[in-house]
Amino acid sequence: MSPYAHIAGWGMYAPARVLSNQDLEHMVDTTDEWIRSRTGIVERRIAGEKESTATMAVEAARRALARAHLSPRQLDAIIVATISPDHLTPATACLVQAALGADKAAAFDVSAGCSGFIYALSLAQMGITAGEWHSVLIIGAETLSRFVNWEDRNTCVLFGDGAGALVLTASDQPGGVLACVLGADGSGADLLVIPAGGSRMPASPATLEQHAHTIHMDGRAVFRFATHILPEAVEQVMRKAGLPLTAIDMVIPHQANMRIIEAARKKLRLPEEAFFVNLYRYGNTSAASIPIALCEVADHGLINDGSLVVLVGFGAGLTWGAAVVRWGVALPQPARPWWQRALYIARLAFGRLPAFLRRLLYRLWQALPSRRDEE
Ligand code: UT7
Repeated sequence: MSPYAHIAGWGMYAPARVLSNQDLEHMVDTTDEWIRSRTGIVERRIAGEKESTATMAVEAARRALARAHLSPRQLDAIIVATISPDHLTPATACLVQAALGADKAAAFDVSAGCSGFIYALSLAQMGITAGEWHSVLIIGAETLSRFVNWEDRNTCVLFGDGAGALVLTASDQPGGVLACVLGADGSGADLLVIPAGGSRMPASPATLEQHAHTIHMDGRAVFRFATHILPEAVEQVMRKAGLPLTAIDMVIPHQANMRIIEAARKKLRLPEEAFFVNLYRYGNTSAASIPIALCEVADHGLINDGSLVVLVGFGAGLTWGAAVVRWGVALPQPARPWWQRALYIARLAFGRLPAFLRRLLYRLWQALPSRRDEE
């Protein structure tokens, strides 16, 4: 049993297409000024036609694995946090598993709204510290542009697409994920909901006409909940870790609204530079927002080995979650000869080949005349 779950790699993916507030002015009755002043958002990314939650998750995952110097075959589990999966079933994590060629990994999705990534992180930590898993890939990925009603100015200005991934590995070195808290209040389930497409309201021409397959949100109610739960979750998780609030070097909150983040920061009496904000460039990417922000924090060198980082999310469900991480790459990276590095890159690039060949063989087998006679 390894007592610590460390972050060994991170990676993000944002689609190329940028949708600015000015673009939205031509689509709905809104203004750049309203969006900026009420949310802080300036632009968001929109997935291309051939992109989906799984394809973006795979891109982010490849980058995280490369940074961790880990082969997909070394993964024990893949957890994707999303509310915009490729399908109701199978899990998006299974599509990611096949694309990476991570054939030894269990794969499943977590649906916990914008808190989903913290839920995934907590599960990974539990699996690692219990000794069940050694290496786990967790991904927050969303294609919310496909679930937004582009005629509803209350919601369509808020959301964006993207993915962020972390690789967690077991280690005896103290550090990594120190504590997590998770919570839910299902009495607020109707405050942020996609009403149709599930078993309660199956898809029909009427649900399509009513835009019932898109996000419906009581923004004010969610706002009130968020401003109260965000600081509370930070306090709770710091108590659980046995650390004072003053020990925090960086808070990475769910990127929903600048006003929510600012209210929480004031309540916690933390300095401005202790809260990372990038929502002005990506909008609200739900379960992807925290890992995308964490990747930018790490890539820009805003945290160092030993930094104490708090991740905190809230969202549909209603749900919330927070995690305390002692940053620092755990594993000493062995120097590898060039050919091993090339093999590794090739494996990452062609990871989906084994799954493709298996599917092909299966189809050929099904098509054999002798098989057809048997049936
Ligand atoms: O990540 C999941 C969790 N989700 C959230 O955290 C979202 C939380 N909520 C919020 O961030 C904010 O409530 C919003 C940004 C969604 C809305 O801001 P608000 O300050 O709460 O605005 P409001 O809903 O109270 O609306 C104020 C006015 C309304 O007009 P009236 O009724 O006062 O005449 C809206 O119709 O602003 C109007 N409005 C807009 N005007 C221009 C709403 N959306 C827009 C818009 N452009 N896009």
